[in-house]
Amino acid sequence: MRAVVLTTYGGPEHLAVSDVPEPGAPEPDGVLVRTAAAAVNPVDLQTRAGLHRGHSAVGPPMVLGWDVSGTVTAVGTEVTRFRVGDRVVAMSAQMATGRGTYAEAVALPEDLVAPAPASVPLTEAAGLPLAGLTARQALDLLALPPGASLLVTGAVGAVGGLAAQLARLRGLTVAAQVRSAADAERARALGAERVLVGADPADLPSGAFDGLLETAGLPGAVAAVRDDGRAVSIVPTRVPAAERGIRPVVSYVEQDGTGLAVLSGLVDRGDLTLRTAKALGFEEAGEAHRLLAAGGVRGKLLLLP
Ligand SMILES: NC(=O)c1ccc[n+]([C@@H]2O[C@H](COP(=O)([O-])OP(=O)(O)OC[C@H]3O[C@@H](n4cnc5c(N)ncnc54)[C@H](OP(=O)(O)O)[C@@H]3O)[C@@H](O)[C@H]2O)c1
Repeated sequence: MRAVVLTTYGGPEHLAVSDVPEPGAPEPDGVLVRTAAAAVNPVDLQTRAGLHRGHSAVGPPMVLGWDVSGTVTAVGTEVTRFRVGDRVVAMSAQMATGRGTYAEAVALPEDLVAPAPASVPLTEAAGLPLAGLTARQALDLLALPPGASLLVTGAVGAVGGLAAQLARLRGLTVAAQVRSAADAERARALGAERVLVGADPADLPSGAFDGLLETAGLPGAVAAVRDDGRAVSIVPTRVPAAERGIRPVVSYVEQDGTGLAVLSGLVDRGDLTLRTAKALGFEEAGEAHRLLAAGGVRGKLLLLP
């Protein structure tokens, strides 16, 4: 089968479409998924550049990619929740397992997999798993009560945009920090009651919010949290320092088919909107990495086999 293989750590030019062995028959608890789309995430760029080599179980040559949408083509003998022909989505922790999704087919344990939302094209559904699970798990860790105020930084990014919507559904009052005025309307459409425009966290109001979900790598944004408030960062290299009774913690996304099924349901109920920036072919994986690295992408970049 065809897959996008990282031949050696380095720049986007090291991504090449190659023939790799098809996954064999699924494990007893596994499913085989024929890929409709893989989505591109910052972790793919970081892995490509070698930034995770110290804690990765796999290295080049390897297939990148954590997000997949597709159709089940085979199921293991113990699989109960899926059948051949089902439309599904999954997040695969590529760096831990080597199961990359930039491939025509991916074999995955059934408990990572969830029904794809029926209300959006299967390709677009690939934008849900990693960003959606990250947003959901970070909000779980924040554990703010309904009615609390939450500041989401990078609120029109992939995780930030889903987090703003999910936070609103949890009854939180959402303020969105965005880079420019052009993003303000986008943030309001994602459920933000208040939009704070400006790339410098020093311009945020001091002590104004009960909680912070930091997705933009802006540790200074913690100053916008009230004394004894809560802060969760998803950017492990730029975690705010503790101050004024606020002890910021990092949320690391975990594979979770059950949580992903909840997110699919929210999409189908019209409560969660997915945004796609652009779909490219596997041959354009390097270009997709360049686009994401350049910034300004609004919505997910998808790779189609
Ligand atoms: N811990 C985990 O498990 C986990 C999981 C997922 C992601 N992450 C990390 O979380 C971060 C966000 O991921 P993502 O997928 O949401 O990336 P993304 O789609 O690129 O979103 C990041 C957003 O932050 C914005 N931003 C950057 N600097 C800003 C500033 N000074 N002011 C306002 N906005 C700013 C970006 O805007 P521009 O495009 O204009 O720069 C972009 O909209 C990445 O660092 C990623 O590696 C961690």
